[in-house]
Amino acid sequence: MCGILGYLGDGETLSILFNGLKRLEYRGYDSAGIAVLNKQDVFLIKDKGTISEICKPELFSQINGHLGIAHTRWATHGEPNKDNAHPHFDCKKEIFLVHNGIIENYNTLKRFLENKNHKFISETDSEVLVHLIEHFYNDNLEVAVSKALALVEGTFGLIVIHKKNKEMVIAKRGSPLIIGVGEGDIFVSSDAAALIEYTKKVIYLEDNDIAVIQEGNYSIKNLSGQDVIREIHEIKWDLNQIEKKGFKHFMLKEIFEQPESLSNVLRGRIKNDKIKLTIDLNPSSLSRIIITACGTSWHSALIGKYLIEKIVGIPVEVDYASEFRYRDSIINKNDLVIVLSQSGETADTLAALRKSKSRGAQTLGIVNVVGSTISREVDSGIYLHAGPEIGVASTKAFTSQVVTLLLISLFIKQNQGYKLDNILLNEILSLPEKVKIILDKQDDIKKIAEIFKSKNNFLYLGRGINFPVALEGALKLKEISYIHAEGYPAAEMKHGPIALIDKEMPVVFLATNGTVFEKILSNIEEVRARGGKIITVTDREDESIKRLSDYVLYVPKTIEEISPIINSIPLQLLAYHIADLKGLNVDRPRNLAKSVTVE
Ligand code: F6R
Repeated sequence: MCGILGYLGDGETLSILFNGLKRLEYRGYDSAGIAVLNKQDVFLIKDKGTISEICKPELFSQINGHLGIAHTRWATHGEPNKDNAHPHFDCKKEIFLVHNGIIENYNTLKRFLENKNHKFISETDSEVLVHLIEHFYNDNLEVAVSKALALVEGTFGLIVIHKKNKEMVIAKRGSPLIIGVGEGDIFVSSDAAALIEYTKKVIYLEDNDIAVIQEGNYSIKNLSGQDVIREIHEIKWDLNQIEKKGFKHFMLKEIFEQPESLSNVLRGRIKNDKIKLTIDLNPSSLSRIIITACGTSWHSALIGKYLIEKIVGIPVEVDYASEFRYRDSIINKNDLVIVLSQSGETADTLAALRKSKSRGAQTLGIVNVVGSTISREVDSGIYLHAGPEIGVASTKAFTSQVVTLLLISLFIKQNQGYKLDNILLNEILSLPEKVKIILDKQDDIKKIAEIFKSKNNFLYLGRGINFPVALEGALKLKEISYIHAEGYPAAEMKHGPIALIDKEMPVVFLATNGTVFEKILSNIEEVRARGGKIITVTDREDESIKRLSDYVLYVPKTIEEISPIINSIPLQLLAYHIADLKGLNVDRPRNLAKSVTVE
């Protein structure tokens, strides 16, 4: 899940790499490094920390090279320190490499190379690659990289340079890699965010592609040596969308973008009381739906289960992609496998997709990042159009995923020959307005954050379709504030977790109108009787709610199917403000990275 970047051209190489790397930091930020070919010498800077801590802008004017590579790391093998930071180099310090992915057979390769007297400095798997390339190098970098990669098991997106040549050799398997085609200069990156400032023309490499980038041109082959043609695509978003626009953090900006992201996911998809989706779903040949995803996307998958089973009546199974890929999951030809991923690059989700395809199931992707690996490999797909999500904690992608699952449920129902419920359609269309109303109450939520910011534990409780919202609320809090939080179905409390309740325990209840409203009131009573501090999210001006709760967060009235979207907004804001009031780096929580491209 690291970010890699390469540049060849007449621009200010060091500053281009520095700026681009900052935009890739959401992929990892525990160490970083840059190597620039400066005449016949290589300027190398790397260490623990972010690139801004390691490389000072005074250096920009002193380093004049036209070729360079850069890396921002999320440690897998070896702790974050200078030796383990990329770029890595060979014994003669002539070949330099940045790598994203995992080399699974690195121990075997390392032993082989050590027997040939290669000296290793780091504990990383990546360093093995550069020595293997050195082992095969005979004045042709491309050939050496190809020969090395033929022995490698695992995943890679990599960029290699040799100090004698003004060229980059790049290759991909299982980790994203794109070429940005500028006016006379060429970029390589894990993600378009790093190069959008300079070009919107990009080429998405496929697995087992290897490319040689030279001044103003590039050639792409597969690792078997055959030329391949990869189209140039135009990126549709711009730099403006990946700036903070006056917000303190990307996460806050993205929470506030939800009226817009929800409008975008709905645009053109509800017309004349019908759902318009460009996917081909025939309900008569559909016996079961499996939804697979990780983390927050898995929470929206769970909401999807409630929605599809209620609206369509087809059984739905929800699986963590990391479990689904390795267990003896039963996948049939008549199953539809829905793959949910904001990034479209999550390694486990991608593996679950490939497994489903190999078993003959029909696959449907719900993805935010256009051109990502999952979006290219699914049989059909729906983009979220939420715009770039940079904050590590997912917010706007989550609400757009839930809306998309709701649209899919209604689309299947429509294909079953039913007329859709107007009230529900109008409620969906009113979502952006209703979310705005909650955002306007940010200050009320901040006051509650101030009161509870020093707590060590939190419980989030919901029932039915709002049980996954409780899970999501707890995940948001723990990942950015480091407060231990658990989400639970409220009625399960008495089977164990109720033992945790005392005067110190804040309990967030999701108690909006719906089939289980009365039931949840009883659960609130149970917690109150044991002294827990109750924060209730509700749309009911109910006396009993006021009496039972220590704090009430009111949200606009809606119908049950829509409530998970509405209810998740105050929970996002609560987590954000608690973490911010604790002085934590909300956009870069410790140990995490945005795009989990390793398993
Ligand atoms: C949490 C979060 C993660 C991601 C998960 C899957 O806020 O963002 O749990 O949801 O890593 O990522 P995608 O959706 O990109 O597959």
